Amino acid sequence: MSASPDPIFLATAVEAALAAGRIQRRYFRQNIAISKKGPIDLVTAADLEVEREFRMLIAERFPSHVVLGEEQGSGGSTVPASRYRWIIDPIDGTTNFAHGLAIFCCSIALEIDGRVAVGAVYDPIAEELFTAELGQGAWLNGAPLRVSPCERLIDALMCTGFPYSVREKRQRLVNIFGALLGEAQGIRRLGSAALDLCYVAAGRLDGFWEDTLQPWDMAAAALIVEEAGGRLTNYLGEQVDMFRGQVVASNGKLHAGILDVIARGEGRLP
Ligand code: IPD
Ligand code: CA
Ligand code: CA
Repeated sequence: MSASPDPIFLATAVEAALAAGRIQRRYFRQNIAISKKGPIDLVTAADLEVEREFRMLIAERFPSHVVLGEEQGSGGSTVPASRYRWIIDPIDGTTNFAHGLAIFCCSIALEIDGRVAVGAVYDPIAEELFTAELGQGAWLNGAPLRVSPCERLIDALMCTGFPYSVREKRQRLVNIFGALLGEAQGIRRLGSAALDLCYVAAGRLDGFWEDTLQPWDMAAAALIVEEAGGRLTNYLGEQVDMFRGQVVASNGKLHAGILDVIARGEGRLP
């Protein structure tokens, strides 16, 4: 078992996630400024305020740490200039948020020496706080989390998401979706990859796949899935690279079966 990360880190992630939730609740379903980063990629005043507040907190508390955030990036570098890198998605589920749909969260992770060691994902509407520490377990509002016992794809509730580049890779996404549609009990598309992954950790979903996630979408929730006993790989069954963004998450038992169906959808298997 790994040495426990300093408790100040999880406490800071939780404090920041709850603060983010207060900001999100203040803006939610109000008439707020929304702009576009791309044809279908939105950013709201709330995304910007959450990330600004988070950066101020980290600069004050841990001045030597670096921050990688969706809205302000990392200052151009993918290699952290510190042993400690915080990774934040100020709102995961921005499209839902902008439309008044109550499925969104804030996701905060801390990477220490290149390994995510702490994760917190907070849904301020359901008031659900998902947390994990490397080697120590995963929790929902303090209660231990465990993935589902589901053993057969026909009994599995699956979930996926579509990247903002969906138009360029539509056929490939549809092929994989279609292949799984023919095998699973059901498929959902909720619109927040971090919550999707946390729901796998909580056993509400049995599996999740998405092609082009960003580090801030998955850093915290991937740790939460693994610490809840789940498995994460890319579509080929290899270790996930946060910067390449391809993820299959499951309860473990279904993993090989899901990878096979994806391979069939991609035409790699007959
Ligand atoms: C998006 C959500 C969505 C996923 C997209 C992400 P955002 O993040 O997680 O579910 O399908 O790939 O980019 O833009 O709401 O932070
Ligand atoms: Ca996101
Ligand atoms: Ca976001």
